[in-house]
Amino acid sequence: MLAPPIPYKPTNAELYLPKPARILRITQLTEMEKHYELAFLDGHRLNHQPGQFVQVSILGVGECPISICSSPTRPDTFELCIRRAGSVTNRIHALREKDIIGIRGPLGHGFDVTEMHGKDILMIAGGLGMAPLRSLVQYVLDERPRFGQFHLLYGCREPKELLFTDDLTRWRESGDVNLKITVDRPDEQWRGRVGVVTTLFADLPKLNPQDTVVVIVGPPVMFKFVVIEVLARRIPQSSIYCSLERRMKCGIGKCGHCQANHVYVCIDGPVFKYGQLKAMREAME
Ligand SMILES: Cc1cc2nc3c(=O)[nH]c(=O)nc-3n(C[C@H](O)[C@H](O)[C@H](O)COP(=O)(O)OP(=O)(O)OC[C@H]3O[C@@H](n4cnc5c(N)ncnc54)[C@H](O)[C@@H]3O)c2cc1C
Ligand code: FES
Repeated sequence: MLAPPIPYKPTNAELYLPKPARILRITQLTEMEKHYELAFLDGHRLNHQPGQFVQVSILGVGECPISICSSPTRPDTFELCIRRAGSVTNRIHALREKDIIGIRGPLGHGFDVTEMHGKDILMIAGGLGMAPLRSLVQYVLDERPRFGQFHLLYGCREPKELLFTDDLTRWRESGDVNLKITVDRPDEQWRGRVGVVTTLFADLPKLNPQDTVVVIVGPPVMFKFVVIEVLARRIPQSSIYCSLERRMKCGIGKCGHCQANHVYVCIDGPVFKYGQLKAMREAME
């Protein structure tokens, strides 16, 4: 096992210049999302924290922010899960294994994993929110003795949208995490839970508010209802983390595109504590 990552300060070159990385492996996860395993051509490691992101670029097309979905405890390569959305992501989806893309980063402020050591962990993911959260899930599983109970609740609209289904099976079988999954709209094969992710709270054992850290990653509407459940269990606001997605351009605090109230999400976030978010009305909309 590795020590927790020391927050790494990227050099100016890493902040401003896309560095070439080779696509080692591509896996089609769903109709819309592909999973990429990458390594820098110069052999350097990414040195990220769970919750950080990179700017992914294709020469002549553009770049876009993407969360790192693998843990720094698995440092030789890094992984991204990319949904086909528009010009850049469609071009990324057209790439093949061995192709090269540009990477700036790691960027932003990730999860403070050392603050989570010794605590029970409850993570709640909605839809594509499982991508940034997977980095932290892998971290907790790789450093399992450092943590208490580990509960993971995951909700998607439909079964075909579930990400990382091989991981989900492995995690469940490992017994290292109490994993509960639900979908809003089941298909004919679905034998699991049906309903929004908040319905899974009924399956949780009683939480110890002072010793539990909660991490919520998903769309704003999910966040709004999940946080009500979490606060009802008397978890302090300072123990609730969430990751915020805003439109970004530069990713390094220069252009103002990601500003919400008084913060730049790209450098002050994307990971925030609930107490910080509550003061940012724009971020919650
Ligand atoms: C910190 C951060 C982490 C992200 N992590 C991931 C990730 O792990 N995987 C992933 O697939 N996507 C992630 N995204 C979203 C991703 O950056 C956008 O989908 C991407 O920028 C779209 O670029 P494009 O050129 O392909 O699409 P564009 O042509 O720019 O846009 C296509 C469509 O996507 C919409 N769109 C663009 N940016 C966003 C955004 N930030 N949020 C919602 N809608 C958007 C546009 O309005 C438009 O409708 C993340 C965004 C941020 C800010
Ligand atoms: S994206 Fe440019 S300031 Fe945040």
